[in-house]
Amino acid sequence: MAIATTINPEFYRVFSPAQVREIMAHLKRDRAIPFKFFYQGKLVEAWDALNVQQDNAPISSAKTDEAFLKRVCIHLFQTETGCDRWNLIDIGAGNPQLVRKLVGTLLENHCLNAYVALDISPDLLTLSETTLTPWFPALHWHGHLWDFERDPMPLALGDYRHTPQAAANLYLYLGGTFCNVGDRITVLRHIAAGMEPGEWLCISFSVDFRDTGPREFDPTHHISHQASQFILDSFGIHPDHAEIVGYFDPDWPGYKTDIRLHRDYDIQVDDGEGAEEAIALQAGDAINIYRFFSYTIEADTSAPQIHADFTAAGLEILSYRIEALLSRAMIVCCRTGAG
Ligand SMILES: C[S@@+](CC[C@H](N)C(=O)[O-])C[C@H]1O[C@@H](n2cnc3c(N)ncnc32)[C@H](O)[C@@H]1O
Repeated sequence: MAIATTINPEFYRVFSPAQVREIMAHLKRDRAIPFKFFYQGKLVEAWDALNVQQDNAPISSAKTDEAFLKRVCIHLFQTETGCDRWNLIDIGAGNPQLVRKLVGTLLENHCLNAYVALDISPDLLTLSETTLTPWFPALHWHGHLWDFERDPMPLALGDYRHTPQAAANLYLYLGGTFCNVGDRITVLRHIAAGMEPGEWLCISFSVDFRDTGPREFDPTHHISHQASQFILDSFGIHPDHAEIVGYFDPDWPGYKTDIRLHRDYDIQVDDGEGAEEAIALQAGDAINIYRFFSYTIEADTSAPQIHADFTAAGLEILSYRIEALLSRAMIVCCRTGAG
């Protein structure tokens, strides 16, 4: 007989009724909860801790991304671009530690018009504002809620090109977030559609070199473990009735974390607006919590699929760089045909 549980109040505090409905629709249809929902509530502390850890490590993907931003900044200063003021549009902005130096340098050189954080998480927008504005009291900080997997880029971004001064948008999409989504090309299309000719998108993510042996993934110390734990707690699933499993899925291909159930559960859900339903989960079900798409890099460091995906989304790659030690791709691109 299935164990009946109700979802705990913390879950309803973290997610809006619309989000609860979206989560439950994914759970019923795909036996998955998109990772975009795991940047709210208590998990914000885990993200913050991860940032501190990356900052303190002598080598880290965040440090590689910071060096990438430095090179972009030097290029902007050295090149005749026809524009000498920028709005930094930070897509999936999160914790602003990574952009601290870039924001500071652009401000010092009087060429930052505004910093605009775009994020699905209200909690991370708050973290961005409360961290960045004390560091830079003169900064024009703006934040917009945006789900880049679902919706076109907010129209308001066009206004920053004229307010308070004329400026071009420089888009940042850093930290590997690009590979956590189900449909990467749709996300790139949403971004490309909002870009003007000549504007740049800077994007970074981790990749895998071909033929580097069997790929495994132990999530024990990965943030997806905490996200899975959050779902088990929220749904009232006993820790002995489920396990958190990390693996490489060769069919996708990429790294995944699932919750595998050992018992049947009936979860009672209340969407906060009076609609109630029960979701039946069975022993043997695997609920996908995390996914990271793995692009393959060839021995000569080319990556045909990266080029194919960006082209399909209407983006032209202007600069493509692989950092071998941390297997990180760093790309600068613009709208196709836009120069
Ligand atoms: C891994 S963090 C990266 C933060 C920062 N860019 C960095 O590199 O340190 C991912 C960020 O993207 C946001 N995010 C994830 N999915 C999103 C979506 N579908 N739409 C908008 N933002 C999303 C998260 O809330 C989070 O702030």
